Amino acid sequence: MAEFALPKNSRIKKGVVHKSPTQGRIRQFKVYRYDPDSGENPRYDVFEVDLDACGPMVLDALLKMKAEQDSTLTFRRSCREGICGSCSMNINGRNGLACTTAIEDSKGEIRITPLPHMDVVKDLVPDFTHFYAQYAAIKPWLQTVTPAPSGKERLQSPEDRAKLDGLYECILCACCSTSCPSYWWNSDKFLGPAILLQAYRWLADSRDEMTGERLDDLEDPFRLYRCHTIMNCANVCPKGLNPAKAIAEIKKLEMERVL
Ligand code: SF4
Ligand code: SF4
Ligand code: FES
Repeated sequence: MAEFALPKNSRIKKGVVHKSPTQGRIRQFKVYRYDPDSGENPRYDVFEVDLDACGPMVLDALLKMKAEQDSTLTFRRSCREGICGSCSMNINGRNGLACTTAIEDSKGEIRITPLPHMDVVKDLVPDFTHFYAQYAAIKPWLQTVTPAPSGKERLQSPEDRAKLDGLYECILCACCSTSCPSYWWNSDKFLGPAILLQAYRWLADSRDEMTGERLDDLEDPFRLYRCHTIMNCANVCPKGLNPAKAIAEIKKLEMERVL
């Protein structure tokens, strides 16, 4: 796969080399560093990591660098199980989760940068403010007008529940949206693959009663129709989901309304 563009503020210079405190199987990691408060340009630091004293995943290496070599190294992580979506970043030119990317899957130096085309808060931490605002805009919750039939909960047949498979698993890591060229250039208006997959998750829910309103909100030349089916999104999703297919389903629903 082609390498993605670097983050927006990426006039990168050479940085510090952090030696490993132990000598075993040494692997070099080239890590993007940026601290807006310093007033300095971004740089690449090199961290030498002893793989004989490190866990198997890229996140293990980052945790080791922070614990033993530079405590100011900044990145997000929480579950270390591919569940929370916090540790999304670009590893050797490909977006993915640091906690589920094995070091041994890469040969030679491993280059780590923040998710492409987002503003950087610090080091490997991108600013998700706009992404989350777009998520809130699609009203990602069950909307109903009628009271629940039983007075307690709204039931769903196993068949209707199965329609949410491939959608509910999304962890909002933004690996897909930040690999999408249309989102790079139009993220102010195009919702991007992650948010559109989430939008379809509620359109596909048999219990939701706001389908028409949801489709009205998406019917827009930019919000939905900037997807040109380039498929980067499906290629990078760490959960194996296919946002492009969800987008195509939304377009189909929009089309069926006018026929
Ligand atoms: S299929 Fe659509 S959403 Fe996915 S990467 Fe391509 S343009 Fe972006
Ligand atoms: S669709 Fe996949 S890549 Fe996109 S936000 Fe959800 S889990 Fe992440
Ligand atoms: S730490 Fe939660 S997905 Fe990686």
